[in-house]
Amino acid sequence: MTIYLNGDYLPLAEAKISVLDRAFIFGDGVYEVMPVYAGRPFRLTQHLQRLEQSLRGIGMSNPMANSDWEARFTTLIDANGGGDMSLYLQISRGVAPRDHRFPEAVTPTIFIMTNPLPAHDNQPVAGVSVITLEDIRWQQCHIKATALLANVLLRQQAVAAGVTEAILLAADELTEGAASNVFIVTQGVIMTPPKSPKILPGITRDLVLELAAAQQLPAQECTISRTMLHQADEIWLTSSTKEIVPVCQIDDNAVATGAVGPIWQQMNQHYQNYKDRFRRGEV
Ligand code: PDD
Repeated sequence: MTIYLNGDYLPLAEAKISVLDRAFIFGDGVYEVMPVYAGRPFRLTQHLQRLEQSLRGIGMSNPMANSDWEARFTTLIDANGGGDMSLYLQISRGVAPRDHRFPEAVTPTIFIMTNPLPAHDNQPVAGVSVITLEDIRWQQCHIKATALLANVLLRQQAVAAGVTEAILLAADELTEGAASNVFIVTQGVIMTPPKSPKILPGITRDLVLELAAAQQLPAQECTISRTMLHQADEIWLTSSTKEIVPVCQIDDNAVATGAVGPIWQQMNQHYQNYKDRFRRGEV
């Protein structure tokens, strides 16, 4: 696998950075993950916009113009065989003697890699199981920061419980998953928490809302209580790498009948159609 590091394209095994890199020492960096279909990054503009916002959120400026990012993505995708994959990019504040305050005149570390993307055309018909956990993260979850220790600990609790994801609640209000956004459907209405510093503004989340509007499916961004979550007819998880995943069980209880819901079936079809149009270069 070829990766990009600070201006060079090289094999993963040859990529080396300093142990004083601030992402290693402090988790002082931001990242993006985007799917690539038929060799093209999906929702590229939106991912680059969110990257800009994350950089601003940690007091950094964008080290490259969007056209330069795009050129590097294309080179890397082609070097790794094109087709479908996911792109991971990370920018750290750079390498400096260990001191919490921002170093002066430091060059950011820029790293980009590709990873295989799981095929989604055969979603598990039974859906996945989740647990709810208290959201123990910081107050700036809208920044896609590489410092993910709380998310890692929460996700591992889900793994230890034998389930796919941890759905997080802060003071009995739904925020998001450890690595995904969350939707519920109640009486035919699709709902998800509004954007705020409590959640990552997911690119997949936005696309689901966009598709709902285009298809005139009722949808709203609103506060979702623990009770609403547990009484929902459907629960979905969304992320760039997982797309839209139906949840069939929450905290050992079935979601409604425990079967994948009809609104998920519809939304997933719209999502797959949109991806097909993207592959054909129509969107
Ligand atoms: N994570 N919320 C959190 C905390 C996430 O980590 C992610 C995605 C999302 C969904 O965002 P999007 O739809 O833009 O992928 C929400 C990525 C995939 C990751 O860390 O690997």
